[in-house]
Amino acid sequence: RTGARVERLPLARFTTLGVGGESEVWFVSDHAQLAEAMEQPYRILGGGSNLVIADEGVPERVIRLSGPLAERDLEPDPHLSTADEIVTGWVGGGVPLPGLIRQLQKLGLSGLEGTVGIPAQVGGAVWMNAGTRYGEMFDGLHTIEIVTPQETRQVTPDDLNWGYRDSGIPRNHVVSRVRLRLRRSTPEAVLEKMDFADNARKGQPKMKTPGCAFKNPGGVSAGRLIDEAGLKGTRVGNALIAPEHANFIVNLGGATAADVHALLNVIRERVPVPMELEYELWP
Ligand code: FAD
Ligand code: EPU
Repeated sequence: RTGARVERLPLARFTTLGVGGESEVWFVSDHAQLAEAMEQPYRILGGGSNLVIADEGVPERVIRLSGPLAERDLEPDPHLSTADEIVTGWVGGGVPLPGLIRQLQKLGLSGLEGTVGIPAQVGGAVWMNAGTRYGEMFDGLHTIEIVTPQETRQVTPDDLNWGYRDSGIPRNHVVSRVRLRLRRSTPEAVLEKMDFADNARKGQPKMKTPGCAFKNPGGVSAGRLIDEAGLKGTRVGNALIAPEHANFIVNLGGATAADVHALLNVIRERVPVPMELEYELWP
């Protein structure tokens, strides 16, 4: 066997909502361990910042990238970098995005600062092309390594059909690592752009949450639509539609997945515009 660490753990502790029952977690730190984990039905857990996981947990293996797959090499590749642009070494899918964004700012490297404040891992953020109005993950990618049970391949953004909150990478294809393509700038200039993007978050709730529940339909704020339906402050059990921003569902403490599902149904019934769910429900 490859030596992957396997443990049954409550997934609540891996999610920003703080909900999710016990499941078998596979901590994989190299490609051989990843391949072994993928021999049976699996799910991939990133930063857990977009997930509503059942209180019973999930029957599949839950793969978490760790060790070298959660490390970064930001050295510019001398063959691919120019006076204006750099291409980094490999950045593991398990690297926490917020720390990476801070580090890039200090290095004066520009391209991903629009994603400041997104509590994801690099792999999860790439998989769903996380972003804000000020930028998204695909603004700063050079190569993406994708692992499936059949193969490992390296692609460029041009090879993928990506768009708003969507990388075009099929579910359960693992983003194991990426190389970044960034512009040379200064720490001050990058910080200024980060502050701008950060400001747009001032009105977001500070409690346990998986972020925005629905994608913005046709560019209209789903939060505004839910707000206009009069649903701010609606509560089911210990889950609440945030009074600060109606597209956020927050955990008041002890919320269950069922509470969150019930709130999502209230929103679907009461908002007249069809909206696509952004949260991912496990199972
Ligand atoms: P998870 O939640 O762990 O998983 C989400 C999906 O990604 C799952 O399908 C999972 O299987 C898949 N996945 C995870 N890792 C990998 C991998 N390595 N390879 C392949 N698939 C993988 N999102 C935005 O876009 N913009 C925002 O401004 C924003 N603000 C937020 C603010 C808060 C306070 C919170 C809690 C969330 C916010 N989000 C935002 C939502 C969330 O951060 C993003 O959806 C993020 O991309 C999820 O990444 P993750 O690593 O946490 O993935
Ligand atoms: N609005 C309301 N009521 C609300 C919420 C918003 O009237 O309850 C209004 C605001 O006043 C503003 C407009 O709607 O005029 C837009 O609101 P906001 O600036 O908060 O942006 P958003 O479109 O609701 C998007 C992303 C967020 C991202 C912010 C900031 C989606 C689904 N949401 O929200 O992303 O952080 O912009 O860039 O695209 C996420 O995807 O999880 C997420 C949090």
